[in-house]
Amino acid sequence: MDLKDFLRQEDFIVKCQWGISLMNARLQMINAELSMRCGRKVIHSYSSRIKSYDSIAAKLRKKGLPETVRSMEEHVSDVVGVRAVCTYTDDLYRIGEMLCAQRDMRLLKKKDYIRNPKKSGYRSLHLIFQVPVSFQEEVRWIRIEVQLRTGAMDYWAGLDYQLQYKKENREAKNISRELKEYANAIEQIDSKVLELRKRIEAI
Ligand code: GTP
Ligand code: MG
Repeated sequence: MDLKDFLRQEDFIVKCQWGISLMNARLQMINAELSMRCGRKVIHSYSSRIKSYDSIAAKLRKKGLPETVRSMEEHVSDVVGVRAVCTYTDDLYRIGEMLCAQRDMRLLKKKDYIRNPKKSGYRSLHLIFQVPVSFQEEVRWIRIEVQLRTGAMDYWAGLDYQLQYKKENREAKNISRELKEYANAIEQIDSKVLELRKRIEAI
């Protein structure tokens, strides 16, 4: 089947949404448990999306791959994506560990762009899971990319994303260079703020 038609199918969309609901429910439970344990709100915001045909096709083209369903299944891990934003870096790893400890989900891949930031300056913890979705009396496994970030990483990535469509512009190039410097500044602030939180907790 044609990739565009495949993505339009109602049962494909319903399975993806089911996967998103399942992952969001897990994140909310983890948030409740951690928030209770730590005495502060741990996850500040959630978002999710199913990648559009245009973005999937663009990603495949960029990788020099054919725009087929098979190629998407093999090479695009973020067709279904969920994001959680926290204040502190250590919470991101705690959430990651708690997600991995869920019995029914399988971790396929971990990409730690916090310890190993991308050349662009991008930082986030990416975990790619397979989650079981009961659909039409069968269990289907849905792949979901979970992005865990601090608020600072999130606003940085938001600006970087906006720049992606304006890359050829000269001013955009200047902004991009400056933004990369701020990626380092943000990294330092994130670690200082965490240090302060730990000192406050120790009082
Ligand atoms: P690769 O071929 O390994 O790059 O695979 P990929 O693009 O599927 O995975 P990657 O982990 O690079 O990116 C997955 C998602 O992370 C993207 O869809 C974006 O949401 C986000 N992301 C990755 N790199 C950047 C970046 O440099 N800037 C921004 N704003 N987001 C990024
Ligand atoms: Mg990429």
